[in-house]
Amino acid sequence: MTDERSSAGDADVRVDVHLHPEAITEALRIDALSGLTARPKTLPPKWFYDDVGSRLFDEITRLPEYYPTRREREILEREAPAIAAWGADTLVELGAGTATKTRVVLDAMSRAGHLRRYVPFDVSEATLRTSAAEIAQRHPGVSVHAIVGDFDHHLGTIPDGGRRLVAFLGGTIGNMDVGERKGFYAELAGGLAPGDGLLLGADLVKEPERLIAAYDDAAGVTARFNRNVISVLDRELDGDLPPDAFGHLARWNDTERRIEMWLEATRPLASRLEAIDLDVTFEAGEQMRTEISCKFRPEDIDAELATAGFELVEQWTDAAGDFSLNLARLR
Ligand code: SAH
Ligand code: TRP
Repeated sequence: MTDERSSAGDADVRVDVHLHPEAITEALRIDALSGLTARPKTLPPKWFYDDVGSRLFDEITRLPEYYPTRREREILEREAPAIAAWGADTLVELGAGTATKTRVVLDAMSRAGHLRRYVPFDVSEATLRTSAAEIAQRHPGVSVHAIVGDFDHHLGTIPDGGRRLVAFLGGTIGNMDVGERKGFYAELAGGLAPGDGLLLGADLVKEPERLIAAYDDAAGVTARFNRNVISVLDRELDGDLPPDAFGHLARWNDTERRIEMWLEATRPLASRLEAIDLDVTFEAGEQMRTEISCKFRPEDIDAELATAGFELVEQWTDAAGDFSLNLARLR
């Protein structure tokens, strides 16, 4: 682990790096080797978020069809005083990204006089460093302790102390299936103390047409985001799969209540991924699953949290009832 501190004026930023470039490449090798030899082929979503992917995701959040960001911001703006009044002095944020919406919560906690520490946690180092520095500037006197890590492996590195509220926004929880969520909540609960909190943004089940549009926008930004994972494979594993030879598909799976993102080979493809010593081929029309985004019924969120030992304190939705923000407390 590398740990460094920097001070610019009053700003107090510390960055712990649990994922060095070599470790990232090694983890990608393992995931690519198992995912590309599975049937159907599949890849875990964390590999979308290199610098290009993080920028494309930021564009997604501003698309007219992508309602989750706006709906969640609406709830955060309305409920920020209640969230601040809950009394946490440390806000931990998993998958923080650019932390744009988080500023609403941080500002309210700061106004209420409670905010001491912000701990943004993300796999995307460059994005994390930028948002950590911006927030440190905006809140002098608050210590910003950024963690470059993978929430599938490094939840144990969340620092102790104070009364912690862990924010997990954007519906990222839906990118895990039910078994992965169970493991995630258990691991998270294991590292928290009774009385610590969870602020969870979860997207709700709605008409498939709107869901599909949100993941297959007219401008094609989501398609570019999806194909970017092919560029990541090529660059990191010394391959030459042509990203443009894949079509983007967003499909509603009604049984599992989730959107699925697939990449479909538009013609037969073959490439050697030198770094993992693997010859990978796609038949014309072959599909690889790159992401799931589960959508919830409000009562399911409550039930899953309860199983992990969290007691739901508030379950808010936006005026249109599209998205939920859940505040829970560890028993
Ligand atoms: N919280 C932001 C960003 C959501 S996008 C919002 O609500 O808009 C998902 C974020 O999670 C990205 O910043 C991505 O880099 C990060 N991420 C994805 N998988 C991760 C993992 N396994 N560990 C840590 N961060 C991850
Ligand atoms: N957490 C986001 C979501 O499920 C991630 C996301 C948005 C995404 N659009 C995407 C992931 C397109 C892959 C492809 O809504």
